[in-house]
Amino acid sequence: MGSKPSIMIVDDEEIVRTSLSSWLLEDGYDVVPVESGKLALEALKKKSYDLMLVDLKMPEMDGLELMKEVKKFLPDLPVIIMTAYATVDTAVKAIKEGAFDYLMKPFDPEEISITIKKIMKQQMLEQENIFLRKELAKQFQFHQLYSKNKKMQEIFELIKNVAKTDVTILIHGETGTGKELIARALHAESLRKDKPFVPVSCASLTETLLESELFGHEKGAFTGASTMVKGMFEMADKGSIFLDEIGDISPKLQMDLLRVLETKEIVRIGSTQPIPVDVRVIAATNRDLGKAIANGTFREDLYYRLNVITIDIPPLREKPEDIPLLTEQLIEKVNIETGKSVKRVNEDAMALLMQYRWPGNIRELKNVIERSVVLAKEDIITLNEVGPCFGRNVKDGISSGGSADMSLDQMEKNHITSVLKNNNWNISTSAQILGIDRTTLYNKIKRYNLGEDNK
Ligand SMILES: Nc1ncnc2c1ncn2[C@@H]1O[C@H](COP(=O)(O)OP(=O)(O)OP(=O)(O)O)[C@@H](O)[C@H]1O
Ligand SMILES: [Mg+2]
Repeated sequence: MGSKPSIMIVDDEEIVRTSLSSWLLEDGYDVVPVESGKLALEALKKKSYDLMLVDLKMPEMDGLELMKEVKKFLPDLPVIIMTAYATVDTAVKAIKEGAFDYLMKPFDPEEISITIKKIMKQQMLEQENIFLRKELAKQFQFHQLYSKNKKMQEIFELIKNVAKTDVTILIHGETGTGKELIARALHAESLRKDKPFVPVSCASLTETLLESELFGHEKGAFTGASTMVKGMFEMADKGSIFLDEIGDISPKLQMDLLRVLETKEIVRIGSTQPIPVDVRVIAATNRDLGKAIANGTFREDLYYRLNVITIDIPPLREKPEDIPLLTEQLIEKVNIETGKSVKRVNEDAMALLMQYRWPGNIRELKNVIERSVVLAKEDIITLNEVGPCFGRNVKDGISSGGSADMSLDQMEKNHITSVLKNNNWNISTSAQILGIDRTTLYNKIKRYNLGEDNK
C-alpha cells in the first residue's frame, strides 16, 4: 500500500462519481473515477488500487460482470458493490461472487466514510500479516532449505563456516532428506559459487560408464569413443563436484577416486597424461559407510579422505516442527505453478501429516502436498485430499497416535519394527529411543515375532 490508499469508483452516473470523489478525497484517499467497466479494466492495468467501488447497474458491463473479470487477475482486490435496488437477493449474490461488501444508494457520506476506513484497516492488517509470515519464514530459510529444527540450524551454521574452505564434505541422510540441496547450499556459500556445480549420480551407472563420466576419455579409448570427451571432474574445474550415492561405487573406482583426491589430478581413459583439476568434492550417501567399511565393501582410506567433515541430516520424522513450515512453503510453490490459491491444510489433515513416519522424507511430503493441492476443490486441504495421496502402505508409515482401524498392538509392532530398522537392528540404541530397557525390547521382539527377515 502506498502512502495514500487509492480507490477506484466505477459508476455511469456523473453525479455519483463527483459526489463520492469529493467525500473520499476529503478523507485523504487517492480517488480515480471512471464511467464504465471497460474503462475500469483498462485503468487497472496501469496502476494498482486498494479498493474498488462498483455500481451494480451499468449499461454494457454490469457491476457483477466487472467484478468477475477483475477477480480473474486481481483476486485479492476488495470490491464493494453499490446499488440503488438493494434487495437481500442481490446483496447475497454480490457477496457470494466475491464482493467484500455492498453499499446502498442514496449514500450517507458518514456511513461511507466509516465503512471504507474499516475495510482499509482490515486490508492493512491482512497485508501486514502476510508480510510478517513471510519474514518469519525467511528466518528459517537457508538458500532453498527451510527448517526450524535445532540440528538443521546447526548444519546451516556449519555450512557457512566451512563453505569458504576447500575441505571435503560427506553428507549423510536418508532418501529425500535434502542431501542435494545441502550440497548446493555449500557451493552457493563458497568462493566457487560463480563456477560450475556438477552433480554425478554414482548409483545409476555401470562401473565403466561411471568411470568415463567422471574422468572422460580420449578419442579411440574404446569402441564408440569417436571423439575426446571431458569428464565431470574437468567440467567442475574451479567449481564443485557432487558425488551422490558414493557408497555404491565399485572397489576400482574407489581406488581411482582416492588417487584423484590425493593428487588433485585426473587421467582420462585411454591416456596416461595426468591433468590437474581444482575441484571441491562434496559426497553424499544414504548408507551407513561405517558398516560398509566393517564388511569390506568400502575403503577406509577413501572414507577418511571424504569424511573430513560429516553433515548428518535428520530424517523428517525427527523434526516434526518442520512439517507445518514445509507444508506452507510447498503449498505456496504449487499454487504458483498451478495457478491455484490453496490457503492451508486443515487440522485433521495436519494431524495425519504429523503422525506419518515419512520414509521418503521431504520428497515424499512434497509429492503428497503437490497431489493434494491439485485435488483440492476448495481453498483448504482436508483428509479427503491428503488420504488418497499416500501410498497403499500408509499404515506402515504411522508411527504413533494411530489410525482409526489399527489395534494398539499392531501400532506398537509397527513402531518397534521401524525403530529397529532405522537403527540397523541395534538393540541398545533402539531400546533407548523407545524408552524401554533391552530385556523388554527382546521380549517384544519375541512376542511379535520380529526378526532380521523383516528388514
Ligand atoms: N529443508 C528443505 N526445505 C525445503 N525443501 C526441501 C528441504 N529438503 C529437501 N527439500 C526438497 O525435497 C526434495 C528432496 O531433496 P533432495 O533431492 O535434496 O534430497 P536427497 O537427500 O538428495 O534425496 P535422494 O537420497 O533421494 O537423492 C527436493 O524436492 C527438495 O527441494
Ligand atoms: Mg539426491
